[in-house]
Amino acid sequence: MYNEKVIEHYSNPRNVGEIENASGIGEVGNPVCGDIMKMYLQIEDGIIKDVKFKTFGCGAAIATSSISTELIKGKTIDEALKLTNKDVVDELGGLPPVKLHCSVLAEEAIRTAIADYLRKQGNMTEEEILEKCKLDKGGQCSHCHDVVEE
Ligand code: FES
Repeated sequence: MYNEKVIEHYSNPRNVGEIENASGIGEVGNPVCGDIMKMYLQIEDGIIKDVKFKTFGCGAAIATSSISTELIKGKTIDEALKLTNKDVVDELGGLPPVKLHCSVLAEEAIRTAIADYLRKQGNMTEEEILEKCKLDKGGQCSHCHDVVEE
């Protein structure tokens, strides 16, 4: 059901843990299954210097969290915001169709953590932050909801 890369990231996930005094934290839940992911970002001069995550979820959620931390580490906020759940799935070499919804957690957690960082910076309005992070008014990722509900 899962390819070797997915199994490898599930068995040996990268960047698991927490960052003390993180610049931004994003906690999201998957409405389909109830799984939860928390993403911690350390951001300096607009660059994601460090990222850690904790996922209470299935193997696909853990593998997608793991690989997405690798994909955004060292990137700018704007680059990280361009990461889609499809990019994450492609990087893993694919997921079984019934597990595709699991990949939205990572994308959503990154967007939510960046929004948290921007709020703490205090120089953008809430509307501007939600727009930039492509989150709807509830702080959730509208794109992810579309994918989840398909
Ligand atoms: Fe919940 Fe995979 S079954 S994220």
